[in-house]
Amino acid sequence: MKLLSSLRLAWLRIKNPLDYSLRQHLHPGVRPVDHPRISMPDLAGRYKAGRREQAGQEIQRLTELYHFDYFSTARTLDEARENFFYLAMVDRALDESFIALPDSLSVADIGPSSWFYVHALFAALTWYNTWYPRSVHLTGFEVDPYRLYSDLHTRQDHALGNMRGLPNVEYIGRGIMPQGEPFDIITLFFPFVFIKDHLEWGLPPKLFDPESMLKLVYETLKPGGLILIVNQGGYEHKEQLKILEKCGFKPTAAFRMESMLYTYKLDRFVITVKK
Ligand SMILES: C[S@@+](CC[C@H](N)C(=O)[O-])C[C@H]1O[C@@H](n2cnc3c(N)ncnc32)[C@H](O)[C@@H]1O
Repeated sequence: MKLLSSLRLAWLRIKNPLDYSLRQHLHPGVRPVDHPRISMPDLAGRYKAGRREQAGQEIQRLTELYHFDYFSTARTLDEARENFFYLAMVDRALDESFIALPDSLSVADIGPSSWFYVHALFAALTWYNTWYPRSVHLTGFEVDPYRLYSDLHTRQDHALGNMRGLPNVEYIGRGIMPQGEPFDIITLFFPFVFIKDHLEWGLPPKLFDPESMLKLVYETLKPGGLILIVNQGGYEHKEQLKILEKCGFKPTAAFRMESMLYTYKLDRFVITVKK
């Protein structure tokens, strides 16, 4: 079994650079996906009886604080629930980091993929701890935007569809650049900390360097700015902490995100680092 897995990874090391390079040069033109939205006014009522009341209270709290009515126009029930989970995660991460956000905020999200959670992230940034909506400029940096989905749309097409209706949100098909515009907050939801996962996602091995990426993220942050990282499972979380230590960055907050809003096989862990 171990041998098979090693052989598979060795094969991906050869195959991914070829596929990846082909995708960058040969991909369909941009066709944002028009995601049909459904109405589900009673999201809380759709949780199982045991968690309905608590989930309902949390949904109500987040809806009021963040003016987040996404549940009324989500694509699927699952997506609505997961958006609320992301919103709850960012809400707690900002709280635990004791951060005061400026009126105008510039934010980067590294590796947004299809950005199914962009509405939750945007709401969190716009309404965290304020009575008036702050102005937010949100940029997603995705190194593999042309990955083709089963509907023959690219990852970028899906992200552009998901971003519809949000002002000042950009999706850039590359990684973050050294000496680029500095950001107030940089988020990384599930960055790869193990080469195995990076290869399984179809990326070339030369793009795997979590330490250098974090150092670059830190450099691109304004003084007083915040890095927010989410990992899945205790194993990844521990590895992420080791990587941060190697970079010389001390976590400002670190916690396991418990929430009845969405259940994952692996628990979600959050780390923030203030510059
Ligand atoms: C596990 S996925 C996470 C997707 C998404 N953030 C989420 O919460 O579901 C990691 C994503 O990061 C992208 N990625 C990996 N390395 C990157 C880098 N250096 N810069 C930008 N994106 C990167 C991958 O292509 C992939 O889309």
